Amino acid sequence: MTFIEKEMYGSRIVEYASKPRNRGVMKKPDAVGVGGGPCGDMIEIYLKIKKKKVRGAEIEYIRDAKFETMGCAVAVAAASLVTEEIKGKTVKEAETLEVEKLKKILGSVPLVKEHCCEMAINTLKNALIFWENKKKEKQ
Ligand code: FES
Repeated sequence: MTFIEKEMYGSRIVEYASKPRNRGVMKKPDAVGVGGGPCGDMIEIYLKIKKKKVRGAEIEYIRDAKFETMGCAVAVAAASLVTEEIKGKTVKEAETLEVEKLKKILGSVPLVKEHCCEMAINTLKNALIFWENKKKEKQ
């Protein structure tokens, strides 16, 4: 990160952008989401989804999540946080993650960088749509 970026962003963004969690391409993901922003940057999110029985009912949960991006520091931080937030959660819980929650956790997201957070959430939604479509194809 540049000196200016460190001055511009809150400590949480600096932390996640400097030491991103779950960054890297996943081998053989169960679902992939690709998202783009108005700036021309992109994020990819990869998911490993497994099933388990809870009180007799079968639920799907996210066993692993990774991301890659060519986006800015906020995109790195946002995508990193998304993967961290959804790991271990059910697919239904992951579907409820919203931009406002992401921005709240990240702290001070400059107005001109809000689309980077939206891109991370949209990419997650695309990965979950990918998963639903894949299941329909198998039926
Ligand atoms: Fe393009 Fe943040 S991802 S400006």
